[in-house]
Amino acid sequence: MSKTIKKIGVLTSGGDSPGMNAAIRSVVRTCAYHDIECIGIYRGYQGMIEGDFKEMGPRSVNNIVNKGGTILKSARSKDFMTVEGRKKAHENLVAAGVDALVVIGGDGSFTGAEVFNNEFGYPVMGIPGTIDNDIFGTSHTLGFDTALNTVVDCIDKIRDTASSHNRLFLVEVMGRDAGHIALNAGIGAGAEEILIPEEDLGLDRLLESLRRSKASGKSSSIVVIAEGDKIGKNVFELKDYIEENLPEYDIRVSVLGHMQRGGSPSCFDRVLASRLGVKAVESILEGKSNFMVGILNDKIALTPLEQAIKGHSEIDRELLRVSDIMTI
Ligand code: F6P
Repeated sequence: MSKTIKKIGVLTSGGDSPGMNAAIRSVVRTCAYHDIECIGIYRGYQGMIEGDFKEMGPRSVNNIVNKGGTILKSARSKDFMTVEGRKKAHENLVAAGVDALVVIGGDGSFTGAEVFNNEFGYPVMGIPGTIDNDIFGTSHTLGFDTALNTVVDCIDKIRDTASSHNRLFLVEVMGRDAGHIALNAGIGAGAEEILIPEEDLGLDRLLESLRRSKASGKSSSIVVIAEGDKIGKNVFELKDYIEENLPEYDIRVSVLGHMQRGGSPSCFDRVLASRLGVKAVESILEGKSNFMVGILNDKIALTPLEQAIKGHSEIDRELLRVSDIMTI
């Protein structure tokens, strides 16, 4: 392993996700295992610009493997988008003797890391942390599994009240421009229809499906809607539209919102975080840079950051078919 790396910095950036703490813990402890120093950088790139650093040892990450959020805090830094901001951040890292950086975040955070690497030749390694699962080069991002379980748990509860009142519920879930949360949680929670950005169902088909559902004897229904869906109406406008066209339905809307980002990480996310953290640090020590560490076919795999940013994480189209069959 390369002897040139003596100190690694770790930060969390962008929207937080369950499992980020477990990843911080893994990075810090892997550094300790290899006898190198670790610096925690607070508030993502903003803390890098402001020199908000703290030395971290194996005991500074006690009791966080089970905690949601991120002990290092997170931010979306506008200053880091400027050359001056990145220059200041680089000066701070050099002054603190930090030789390489592990960035835990989503594609926006990786874009920042790649630019930083290009400008200063500074070693960076990405760990995908976002509930959206919208990163190319990994089948799972940190927090996705936990978010799915949170959403399914919420919809199970909604189903109780939907069923008691014979109602249709429109449940909006997060995911930005991706439908992974909606599609997977929708199947897991037994949704009647799932609206995702990758496949525009269209208003006519939605109405037809709901008509069929009523005719087939279903008394209550759940429609899961990804926040980025392309149907052309927000969830409240969609409620009005369905009520106008299918007055037999009594409809309520539930927007799950940020609760999807919180909570204790699932076992899957904790194990994934631990594996990704080990690989990120050891890859840096092997002299690698500008990669994202992900998981593909249950094996930890490196993808160039550029590909991770530019590539598209496709939805599994087979899931659409499965969903259709399940709602017969
Ligand atoms: O990227 C994670 C995410 O939770 C998206 O699903 C959502 O669109 C966005 O962040 C919300 O961002 P904010 O927390 O800034 O409102």
